[in-house]
Amino acid sequence: MGWQETFEKIASELMKDPTHDFEHAKRVCSIAIHLAREEKADEDVVKAAALLHDVGYSLDEKGHEKKSLEIAESLLGMTDFPQGKRDKVLECVRTHRFSGGEEALSLEAKILQDADRLDAIGAVGIARCFLWSGEHRKVLKDAVKHFDEKLLKLKDIMNTESGRRMAEERHRFMLEFLEKLEDESNWTTPQSSSTGPSCR
Ligand code: NI
Repeated sequence: MGWQETFEKIASELMKDPTHDFEHAKRVCSIAIHLAREEKADEDVVKAAALLHDVGYSLDEKGHEKKSLEIAESLLGMTDFPQGKRDKVLECVRTHRFSGGEEALSLEAKILQDADRLDAIGAVGIARCFLWSGEHRKVLKDAVKHFDEKLLKLKDIMNTESGRRMAEERHRFMLEFLEKLEDESNWTTPQSSSTGPSCR
């Protein structure tokens, strides 16, 4: 079995979290490959890093980049993944996290960060935000706060030019969605001639 097939198999087995399931890894992988082509980065590195970056999430949500790093380290050694590129993959995994505080220095690490952030915005981002909020017993109003706190800030901290372009479009869609949500949330029964009971 080649390295890609092995990483896909392990990731699909380990990633069982509602918002960080194997589908997340696959989407990040597709975005990362696209960005790598645009930015002329190493495709093997971003592909491996995208598949492995969240493999530790189900086991340890809080320190998941460390757990993912441990797993990635042992997996890279067990497969035919090019030896000279292993450290680059590990750097991507170590630095991918939004709130991790570690700076992504290589182009490939920057691309993984961008791809992971792109999967947190747009239509998929909206869906994941509410999925996460439900899982953590949050009401709608509190879930919406996450847009201001994090999701609407992501387009301004993209690392690459092609990532920024993709982020702009996804950002616009989130604004459109939030506007609609606000409208529907404030919708009131149209006034009739007799003033009936009101919910507000
Ligand atoms: Ni991720």
